[in-house]
This record gives sequence, structure tokens and C-alpha cells, in this order.
Amino acid sequence: MKRVFLILLICSSLSSIVNLVSAYNVPAIFTFGDSIFDAGNNHFNNNCTAQADFPPYGSSFFHRPTGRFTNGRIVADFISQFIGIDLQKPYLQARLEILNGSQRDYPSNGINFASAGSGVIPETNHDLGVTPIQEQLQQFQVLVEQNQINKSLVQKSLFLFESGSNDIFNYFLPFDPPKLNPKDYVQAMLTEVASYIDQIYKLGARRIALFSLGPVGCVPARALLPGAPVDRCYEKMNVMVQNYNNGLESLVKDIPIKHPGAVAVFGAVYDIVQRFRTIPIRYGFSDVTNACCGDGTLGGLMQCGKEGYKMCPNPNAFLFWDYFHPSEHTYKLISKALWAGKNFGIRPINLKTLANITSSIMGEG
Ligand SMILES: *[C@@H]1O[C@H](CO)[C@@H](O)[C@H](O)[C@H]1NC(C)=O
Ligand SMILES: *[C@@H]1O[C@H](CO)[C@@H](O)[C@H](O)[C@H]1NC(C)=O
Ligand SMILES: *[C@@H]1O[C@H](CO)[C@@H](O)[C@H](O)[C@H]1NC(C)=O
Ligand SMILES: *[C@@H]1O[C@H](CO)[C@@H](O)[C@H](O)[C@H]1NC(C)=O
Repeated sequence: MKRVFLILLICSSLSSIVNLVSAYNVPAIFTFGDSIFDAGNNHFNNNCTAQADFPPYGSSFFHRPTGRFTNGRIVADFISQFIGIDLQKPYLQARLEILNGSQRDYPSNGINFASAGSGVIPETNHDLGVTPIQEQLQQFQVLVEQNQINKSLVQKSLFLFESGSNDIFNYFLPFDPPKLNPKDYVQAMLTEVASYIDQIYKLGARRIALFSLGPVGCVPARALLPGAPVDRCYEKMNVMVQNYNNGLESLVKDIPIKHPGAVAVFGAVYDIVQRFRTIPIRYGFSDVTNACCGDGTLGGLMQCGKEGYKMCPNPNAFLFWDYFHPSEHTYKLISKALWAGKNFGIRPINLKTLANITSSIMGEG
């Protein structure tokens, strides 16, 4: 018994030494997108009505609401933990802390610019006061141009992007019918993403990860849409999502050709999540259809935390935490697939490999 204990002790101290010498080459993460990625920006935006800054959001991990639209951590949090850096603050929090004098500089572990409810089309949910991707990029651009974030830090950092779910969901809202057909609408979205990629590269980004949308047609909130089925996913919506995802993957493949020195990966979140839905038991899910927290059909008619909501006793056995968003368990599984998974879920290389590419390969000299 004593010997076993000693061996364990030696092993664990060895592994902590190994951790020290084999740290990844990524000091920081910059995140852009919607509620899948928002770590609390909307909470610090007084003008914004898309919020998750009330209980029981955050209850499974942080034990308090943080503005994240789930019961715990989101993908950028897990990737930060895998790399071994602190979780990023929302941009609006970091800015407030500098304005009110409690911090001198922007954090050196990256910043989260994502805003729940936003999209790649600037008009998407404009009336809710959300920050579209173009404005998120502007916020980042100002920091780089004013030297408030170190340019050599930017070159080594990981850039995460996920946006478009709200653009496509809103396409199916009964009021304000869309002016473009589905094909042209998706094309308009991809034009905005291409412009985002060009600008982020110009500002120094070299490690770029773009994630596909999940099966948006399967979210419990589809019960809010008059035309959607509730006994299965909304195929029309998923077809549009898949067209966007295919276009996004083409953009990712073009990045190293158009932008020398950049390495880009495509995270196939759609396929990762569909696998959970196909074999739920293997991934620890007892329910891949309903929201754990909410009310009405599929738990999708009311936001979690609003007056009269109901919550399941085991949120992490549910694929969906609320009407639109995955549970922390789902995010954890997605993050693992993106970090160290095979080509099925992330290609041409996974995030772990991307994080360990040395600076010289990326032409940073
Ligand atoms: C990074 O790659 C080097 C070889 O290129 C390897 O020795 C090292 O263990 C890797 N680090 C991590 C954290 O995987
Ligand atoms: C909120 O709106 C006011 C008035 O339009 C504006 O001055 C302020 O910058 C906005 N705040 C944020 C965080 O966008
Ligand atoms: C500054 O703002 C941060 C974020 O809201 C808050 O936590 C902190 O208490 C504020 N500090 C001061 C000195 O007002
Ligand atoms: C920027 O970061 C690099 C290390 O990544 C450091 O050597 C350099 O001094 C930093 N520059 C400034 C202005 O802080």
C-alpha cells in the first residue's frame, strides 16, 4: 500500500514537470460569435435584451449566472483548460474594468467578443441590441490598432469563430418574411464570413478555427415556429444550415492559399452533435430532444429562468439545456472532439495539433 502511494506520488510530480516543459504555443484565445460562445458580453451591455444573467444559468459549474447561455462552461472555456490558460473575460467586462480603474491593461490570455442573439448578417436581432460580428471585429481592431493588445501575442493566439444560427433561425420567423431565397441568403452570410476572415488575418490572426453550425433545426425552440414539426427536426432549416456549413468549409480550405502563413481548421460541430443524437446512451444522454430547462412543447416555448419555468434534475443528461442551447455536458463532448478528435469532427488538423504548431512554421520568424 505504502509503495503504491509512493509510486503515485512520483508519477504525479513527474507529470507536473512534463506539463511545465511541454506547454502549448498558444498564450491567448480570441472568440467571436453568438450565444454558443458568449461568456457574458450581453450582461455588460445595458442596451441588450438577449440575456442569460439570471438563475439557473451557470448552476452546474459556476454555481451562479455568468451570462453564459448554459448550465456551465462553453467551448472556449474547455479549450482554455486543455491549453492550460485562464478562461477569457467578456470584452465589455474588460473594458469596464479599465474604465473604472480596477484593471490597467486588457488581459493577456485573450478576450471573448461573442454576443448572444447576433449573427453574421448585421440586421439579425438588431432590435434586441446585440453586437453583430462586424462590430465585434471593430472592437478587436481598435484594441490592436491602439496597441492595447500585443501584436506578437495576436500572432500566436487561437481565433475561434461560430456564428450564423440566429441568421438561419430568424429566416423562418413568420413575421418580416425574408427578401432573399434560401440559396442567396446563405451566400450573403458566407460573404460576411469571408470578409471576417480577411480582416482577422490583416489584424494578425494566424491560427484560425471556424466551427460549423449545429443542427439548428433540432433545437426545442422550433416549437415556436408555426411551420416546424415537433416530432422530428425541421429538415428545411437543417438543409440551409448544411449549405452554410459546406460553404464555410470551402472558405476554410481557401485560407492557407489566400493568406500565407495562416493555418485554419474547420470544426464539424453539426456531425459531432448528430452522432450524439444517433447513439445517445454511448455519450451519457438520456434525452436528446427536449430542453432540460424551460416550459411548454419540447421545453422550447419559454426561456429557462423566466417566471414559471421548469428544470430537470439532471441537466447534463440532456443534450439541450434550454430552448436553443446545449448543456455543459454537450459542450464538453464537442470540445473534446475539436481538441483531440479525428477528421470526422475537425479537419485538416485538430485544435491540439494547431495549438502545438511552432511559431517558425507559421512564418513568425
Ligand atoms: C508539441 O510537439 C513537440 C514535437 O514537435 C512534442 O515534443 C511536444 O510533446 C508537443 N507538446 C504537446 C503539449 O503536445
Ligand atoms: C447603449 O446605448 C447608448 C445610447 O444609444 C449608447 O451611448 C451606448 O454606447 C450603448 N451601450 C452599449 C454597451 O452598446
Ligand atoms: C469595476 O467593474 C467591475 C466589473 O463590473 C466590477 O467588478 C468592479 O467592482 C468595478 N470596480 C470599481 C472600482 O468600481
Ligand atoms: C509582446 O509580447 C512579447 C512576447 O510574446 C514580448 O516579448 C514583448 O515585450 C511584448 N511587447 C509589449 C509591448 O508588451
